[in-house]
Amino acid sequence: MPDQSIHYELVGEHEISQKTRADIQSLLTSSFDNYPSRSYYKQLPHQRLLAWSNDYLVGHIGMDYRMMSLSGISIRVVGGIDLCVRSSSRSHGIGSELLNRVETFALRSNSDFQIVFADDDRIYAKHGYQRADNPCRWLKINEHTTLGVAEELIPDALMYKRIGATNWRSGVLDLLGYLY
Ligand SMILES: CC(C)(COP(=O)(O)OP(=O)(O)OC[C@H]1O[C@@H](n2cnc3c(N)ncnc32)[C@H](O)[C@@H]1OP(=O)(O)O)[C@@H](O)C(=O)NCCC(=O)NCCS
Repeated sequence: MPDQSIHYELVGEHEISQKTRADIQSLLTSSFDNYPSRSYYKQLPHQRLLAWSNDYLVGHIGMDYRMMSLSGISIRVVGGIDLCVRSSSRSHGIGSELLNRVETFALRSNSDFQIVFADDDRIYAKHGYQRADNPCRWLKINEHTTLGVAEELIPDALMYKRIGATNWRSGVLDLLGYLY
């Protein structure tokens, strides 16, 4: 049962206030080692799902919605970015509820797959994501500078969950943009 005292909010990136942006930055930098001093790692996501305890931000996941190419087949993909929950609020199901809500979004948007890049697969495996070993092609970005296009297999990173009728397949996953 989700904790009824937590309020979940789906917000478009362009709608986020300066105060909320600062809250997101604080949560991200306290959740991930070496996170840059801003509210995103490489690029702004399209939307965020936020978990609030009164006015205190306790959970976050960014969402990217884009076309990708899987072994030459075009697929519609919802990507989860920087899932994190305040350390004092962990193990109460907030991370799971954020993933449930990403899935609702993916279903409503007629997506083919959800994907994440994660070395620790525990919470995603519980939600039905599977590991994949496809080589990936993506736009390399570093500190707001485009460096070129990379193509390689990133060990223990890519996970997917099928949403639509298309089956996952082997071959290159072309991200048609940056890697989150
Ligand atoms: C991963 C994380 C978001 C889970 O949030 P949560 O609210 O505690 O999630 P839930 O209560 O729904 O589920 C907890 C389960 O997540 C799993 N989990 C714990 N840490 C995890 C991690 N770093 N990555 C993936 N799964 C993790 C465990 O199976 C845990 O079960 P347990 O509490 O019985 O040990 C939270 O631990 C976190 O913010 N970690 C730091 C940031 C991070 O590593 N994010 C993952 C990026 S890919």
